[in-house]
Amino acid sequence: MTDPAVANPCETSAPNRLNPPPVRLPKLVQGVGFAVFRRKAMRNWIKRHGRIFEINVPFFGRSVVVSDPALVRSVCSASAEQLVNVQPNLGNWFGPGSLFGLDDSRHRDRRRLLAPAFHGQSLKNYEKIIEDETLLESANWPEDKEFRTLEPMNRITLNVILRTIFGADGPELEELREIVLPYMKLGQLMAFVPAPPFWTRRYSPWRKLDDFRKAFDRIVFTLIAHADADPGLGERADVLAFLLRSRHDDRTGMPRQDICDELLTLICAGHETTASALGWTFERLRRHPDVLAELVREVDEGGSEFRRATILELLRVRTVIDVAGRRVRASNFDLGGWRIPQDRTVLVRIADLHENPEIYPQPERFDPYRFRGSRAAAPTWLAFGGGARRCIGADFAIAEMDIVLRTVLQNFRIQTDAAPDEKSYFRGVAHTPRLGGRVVVNRRT
Ligand code: HEM
Repeated sequence: MTDPAVANPCETSAPNRLNPPPVRLPKLVQGVGFAVFRRKAMRNWIKRHGRIFEINVPFFGRSVVVSDPALVRSVCSASAEQLVNVQPNLGNWFGPGSLFGLDDSRHRDRRRLLAPAFHGQSLKNYEKIIEDETLLESANWPEDKEFRTLEPMNRITLNVILRTIFGADGPELEELREIVLPYMKLGQLMAFVPAPPFWTRRYSPWRKLDDFRKAFDRIVFTLIAHADADPGLGERADVLAFLLRSRHDDRTGMPRQDICDELLTLICAGHETTASALGWTFERLRRHPDVLAELVREVDEGGSEFRRATILELLRVRTVIDVAGRRVRASNFDLGGWRIPQDRTVLVRIADLHENPEIYPQPERFDPYRFRGSRAAAPTWLAFGGGARRCIGADFAIAEMDIVLRTVLQNFRIQTDAAPDEKSYFRGVAHTPRLGGRVVVNRRT
């Protein structure tokens, strides 16, 4: 199958091997397209230039945009000598000790350190926490009255990540809960805007961010002090304990400020993304009675295969994080017949890859059967990015969505109707349902 609107991305007889076809609009206009009307702008540019082209936008500068699976594969399999994390990235917001801000061996070592907390037995240990938090949050859901699911999902995922990171509840977590939600709301909007000089910060929204950050660090330092004094630290399976026990080759531990940066990263990256995906799940199920009926039947019979397929399809059809970025570190990077020069940004357009009709016929259709019994993986499915920087919380997020969805379906009947689809609202990092994923439910007896 070929997409006639799209030029061959691997065309080697291109007129200029250095620069893929550029979008010829003023930088500011491209920037507005990228920041505000991204989906529409990208669709237009793909139609015009094909699945590799170059834009020039504020903050990222000249950036090569790709959404063809062969090109995506090249980006995902590139070595750390060829491509590093995009600049600016979320490390600017979370601090230099954040996984987002690390490259090379420091990045590899940190991932190795964190991985056990988000896979295997650890996920099994979190199941009960996720189920309990879902039951607690949904205990007072109204019946026969439309409500937004996004905020309840945000509270569930925030509580879950806080409890898995710190291993316990307590007054400090209560304080963190109050800080993190407004911090995320503001921080997302400014995540990619270069911070102003320190002396001007107190006259700008950064002042608020700085205040939030100080409060966060104060509470986390208290929790670190509690953990340090805990005689059972050696046996604890929470993320903070993993980080506190870690040792560099010279036997020194991780600096406390790096621990704060990393915990903030995991809390922020780990809750709103998953909550948005869950909000979209309810938005889709309300409009797809056949899928919903199949899910309920499966839940009642104790199965999970169709639910997994539904989650994968949801993450395809409503991409929460629509772009993954890299920067060329080598003197150049060969990408599908183009020679991309050093320091150029490469943006993988996850949403456009997921909407490619050559990979997914009728891509706008929500059809979990696409993934029944088949794998969802790079380079055609990229909800969690790919390669060395693939989302470290991917398995955790899927397990969390699975248990939240199962628990809700066990306890509630979701009413279906032909309401118009909710549009997407971009909060700065994540794409959420504009009306909050509204549903009407009844308690199952
Ligand atoms: C549905 C939920 C989620 C989605 C859609 C999502 C998506 C992504 C994407 C697209 C990336 C960039 C990957 C790349 O550059 O190739 C990423 C990175 C990351 N995510 Fe997630 N994520 C989710 C949940 C989580 C959770 C639950 C956590 C932590 C508990 C988490 C922590 C991170 C971290 C730390 C990174 C940076 C990885 C690195 O640079 O090595 N995410 N995520």
